[in-house]
Amino acid sequence: MAQLTSPMRQEGFGSTSRRDAWWVEPMLTVIGLLLFFIYANAIVFFVPGHFEIRRNKSNFFAPDNPAMAPYLAPFHSPLIYDAQSPHAWIKQAKPGWWFLPFFSSAMLILIFPAGFRLTCYYYRKAYYRAFWADPPGCAVGEPRRSYRGENHWPLLFQNIHRYFLYAAIVILLFLLWDAIVAFWWPVVEGNTVVGHRFGMGLGTVIMWVNVLLLAGFTFGCNSLRHIVGGRMDCLSCPNNIAQLRGGYKAWRVVSWFNERHMQWAWFSLFSVGFTDFYIRMCSAGYWTDIRFF
Ligand code: FES
Repeated sequence: MAQLTSPMRQEGFGSTSRRDAWWVEPMLTVIGLLLFFIYANAIVFFVPGHFEIRRNKSNFFAPDNPAMAPYLAPFHSPLIYDAQSPHAWIKQAKPGWWFLPFFSSAMLILIFPAGFRLTCYYYRKAYYRAFWADPPGCAVGEPRRSYRGENHWPLLFQNIHRYFLYAAIVILLFLLWDAIVAFWWPVVEGNTVVGHRFGMGLGTVIMWVNVLLLAGFTFGCNSLRHIVGGRMDCLSCPNNIAQLRGGYKAWRVVSWFNERHMQWAWFSLFSVGFTDFYIRMCSAGYWTDIRFF
């Protein structure tokens, strides 16, 4: 009778009998998440401006300026504080209670989308493997033998994910609103905005793709799946299906997104970073937005 052997030997960290390139996925995870982390922190702490495209310091748009656009970079949305921006809710450089020497409006809101991703079930698996090597891959030796799991602090904190989901849905609605506003171009006479008209630029397309990818990521959330159908132990039982009614359909839709959650997670992470980068590059004058009409 053939002997079945485990591909993991017990020699310790990294030991395995696997012959495939199991280390590629954790390595790409480290690179992708680190790049995003560095970019997000640079935006918040070192490059707080250039979150929208302005013609000049007086903050008016010009119809003949190829750089003009009603775009708002997603890392700054919603823009709660800014002294000049037409996107700002409060026309003030920073809140009166702010005590740090530097301020960026993104500091007030980024905790919500960041917390949502940080506590996401998929990302947890990815960064537990990639950063903590716990384990680095299936059937690959771990650096430690004990396991405390998420029933203890500090990982107990991960249970807050369902609350970050609510905040992420609100942020998604703001980004949807920004994408709608990206069709609404200012008409300027002199230094005065005299009205708006329907228009579209490459930035509008990029912002819409970003919203759709973020929606795909959010709608596949495990916590959302639980909210719409998780309270049933047996979804296929006739009585429960009748009880769920429309909820069963919603659960199936969320399940469809959930099956591809990893792909949505990475595509949306890339899209939100790129959308932000695109608007900042146009704002700084390195790139020129293409106006379609
Ligand atoms: Fe990934 Fe909720 S599980 S966003």
